[in-house]
Amino acid sequence: MRLISREQRKLDHLKFALQSNQEVRSAFDDIQLVHRSLPEVNLSDCKLQTSLGGKELASPLLINAMTGGAYKTEEINYRLALVAKETGLSMAVGSQKAALNNPDLARTYQVIRQANPNGVVLANLSADSSIEEAKQAIAMIHADFLQLHLNVPQELVMPEGDRYFTGLMKKIQQIVSFSPVPVIVKEVGFGMCKETYEQLLSVGVKLIDVAGRGGTNFIWVENQRREGQEYHFLYRWGQSTVISLIEAQKFHPQMELISSGGIRNPLDMIKSFVLGAKVIGMASPILRSVQEEGVETTIQTIHRWHEQLRILMTMLGAKCLSELQRVPAVILGETREWCESRGLD
Ligand code: FNR
Repeated sequence: MRLISREQRKLDHLKFALQSNQEVRSAFDDIQLVHRSLPEVNLSDCKLQTSLGGKELASPLLINAMTGGAYKTEEINYRLALVAKETGLSMAVGSQKAALNNPDLARTYQVIRQANPNGVVLANLSADSSIEEAKQAIAMIHADFLQLHLNVPQELVMPEGDRYFTGLMKKIQQIVSFSPVPVIVKEVGFGMCKETYEQLLSVGVKLIDVAGRGGTNFIWVENQRREGQEYHFLYRWGQSTVISLIEAQKFHPQMELISSGGIRNPLDMIKSFVLGAKVIGMASPILRSVQEEGVETTIQTIHRWHEQLRILMTMLGAKCLSELQRVPAVILGETREWCESRGLD
């Protein structure tokens, strides 16, 4: 078996994430919002401010965790941070484990704080981390939040991946208790279910990024890094982002949700707010945009999304994002069947 260095793996992930296609049919298409002819709202009344873990955010959009940890990624993080600064987006770095092992790599993450000193930034580590590692990752970039990722399927399909998953809840509980900043637990594209939310709530987690199926697919990505297609039968493993949000319905308002995984456009974002999200995370679409279209075009795209979100809010009669939770939605197709089978309203 050929063992691959962590640095090479980071570069492989970037390369294949850019090639990865989203599912042709998105579960967001199963959600239909009910049009109103008399919304009684003006465009100028509609505001995009939100909050997460008590922190006010100028934009509800987040550039989700991707990279850092290989020298070539410093430039990518710099470009993403410029976009975040100009548009008011929050931004997460990729897993910082590489810099904990080799402090020389810390600069590939710190670049985002240097480029955007006043921005909201999120540290990122595996949930399988110690309190000390969590504190170091937060301090490394003066983070406002810490993301802990859960990626069991990805680890298992990676030949060099982890094989031990006991004790994660205890580790999460300890980090939540001792972290100097709010902790977000996130998936990486396989989504979550009510049983997982119950487990996370029981160890004190209140901020959750559902990171559902439908966008970047790490089983597909890992399959491209090896010969043969040993795991192609798992390409539809996990819960879609829409189903992950619906599975969380009974836990509002104890939990605050980030919707991510396969978000394609402002309509998907609005549907996420209707289903209870407070923040929207996007990873590969923003990476693809900065790498293929450039920083300036990406900034223009995000300004356009902000305006289109406000247009959609006007159409739906919602002056603020939380009012969107009152908008009636019809659930169709496979998502409806899932809800019926799981006894979800
Ligand atoms: C990721 N993602 C990720 N997540 C995480 O918590 N830590 C990480 O280090 C990484 N690394 C990473 C690298 C690359 C190249 C991509 C594209 C993604 C997962 C990411 O944050 C997100 O959960 C998924 O990509 C789903 O969102 P999109 O890409 O469908 O918008």
